[in-house]
Amino acid sequence: MNLLQSLLPIITCLMHGMACTRESSNKLACLDVSIHQLEQVKLECIRQMQVGLKGEAGGLPMFPSYITHFPSQHEQGTFLSADLGGTYFRVAIVSLEEEDYKFIKRFSIPIPEQIKTGLSHEKLFDFMAEELVQFVLKYCPQSKEIKLAFTFSYPFLQKRLDKGIITSWSKGIDLPSAIGLDVVELYQHSLDKRTGSDGKTRIKIVALMNDTVAQVLAYKRINKNILLSCIFGTGTNGGLVVTVDKETFGPVQWDSFGSMKDKQTIINTEWGSFFNPTLLPITEYDERVDRKSNNPGKQRFEKLISGFYISEIVKEILKSDFSDIYSKYSSVITNEFISLIANEEHLSPSQMPTIMDHLSKESFTTEPRNGKNNPTIKDMLIIQQISQSVLRRCARLSAVLIVSGLEVTKRKREEYVVSFDGALYQNSPIFQRVLHQTVQELLNGFMPTVVYRSDLHCTLLGGAVLLASPDEKDSPIDESTFINKNEFSC
Ligand code: BGC
Repeated sequence: MNLLQSLLPIITCLMHGMACTRESSNKLACLDVSIHQLEQVKLECIRQMQVGLKGEAGGLPMFPSYITHFPSQHEQGTFLSADLGGTYFRVAIVSLEEEDYKFIKRFSIPIPEQIKTGLSHEKLFDFMAEELVQFVLKYCPQSKEIKLAFTFSYPFLQKRLDKGIITSWSKGIDLPSAIGLDVVELYQHSLDKRTGSDGKTRIKIVALMNDTVAQVLAYKRINKNILLSCIFGTGTNGGLVVTVDKETFGPVQWDSFGSMKDKQTIINTEWGSFFNPTLLPITEYDERVDRKSNNPGKQRFEKLISGFYISEIVKEILKSDFSDIYSKYSSVITNEFISLIANEEHLSPSQMPTIMDHLSKESFTTEPRNGKNNPTIKDMLIIQQISQSVLRRCARLSAVLIVSGLEVTKRKREEYVVSFDGALYQNSPIFQRVLHQTVQELLNGFMPTVVYRSDLHCTLLGGAVLLASPDEKDSPIDESTFINKNEFSC
């Protein structure tokens, strides 16, 4: 092969690249967000967080968690923890050891699509009960009563540590009959139908928390200075550590806070519901994604930045501006594919085998390979450019939430310690990079301390940590919270 022959694919690719860059850049300009716009959004987000903390209308939910006792980093014991996330239901027996922990048993199962929507919520709670009871009977059959920490990754108004009223659903679950009801009562009822009688093991839910709250508790075992936990996964949310003072919470909330006064607690911001139609860069594509969702008008910020919606935005752009490409690839535009293609800096013919390999695992292969339908470098470059623009906008907007949350705490910048969780953050280096850069830009060059461990399983660990660190008034630790290690039938 002479030099010209070997360079030909690269030159062709560059020419395609230049042509499609011009074509798609014009159409994608609506996804650019200037630092000035981000600053404006930040001021509004801070305002809505402050209004929410005071319990006034027009603010973010800012739900208090009622947790006032934080891990000492030395808790010990073995605990049962479960979590209903965006895609999976997870359960674990967690053993906390001095400065360490391990999952003795852990399992996760996808939430079946058919129980996510419908007239009755019972099927969802029965499904979780069935899975949990089977797990417990298998691994600790001799226990009389086991205490459970339950992480529920959906919006609810916490009334006590073991009571939370469901306020809405998100991330594809839509079960209106459960709105206004207590999560713990619903789940306990489904559990009690299966356990407790005839001397069988009873599972008792003693603590309920949102996943942002569980994340703070889990990361506090690693770094006790965590101030903000962030989730960028199927959904998005942030958990803030604040001191319950009269100035921040206002007279009405303050009066109802009782034992929480002047103590630190964790606030579930529910920042995915943040919205302001004038300041946010909402495009026609976002409007369509919202209209097609099962909760139009709700969780508008989540619909701009979270994993559940990213592929939908990319598809909407392709559908309206690149319809040929849309019809060829719509079935393979998944988050996994978007991450793969967006994270390559420059696409070249040498990367085509990896992309082809991915496509061949997907339904793309069911199309007849008659030449017309074969993936081309030009198509890939356009999809890449769209994916990168969408992810860049997600990251820039996400940075606003982080900086707003931190500024609401009124702490010195040196005290800003932030933890992360979620598949979008974990799997997308471009999202991570732009997010960190934009946080720094919004803080005039200052970068908060970032704590991140992809192997932490925060929701399950956080539940165990909470069971191990009871409120001071309950001290010493109620031994019955533990699972006796000798009871395992592992
Ligand atoms: C829910 C939050 C949750 C977040 C991350 C959102 O859809 O409203 O409660 O924390 O997803 O899982």
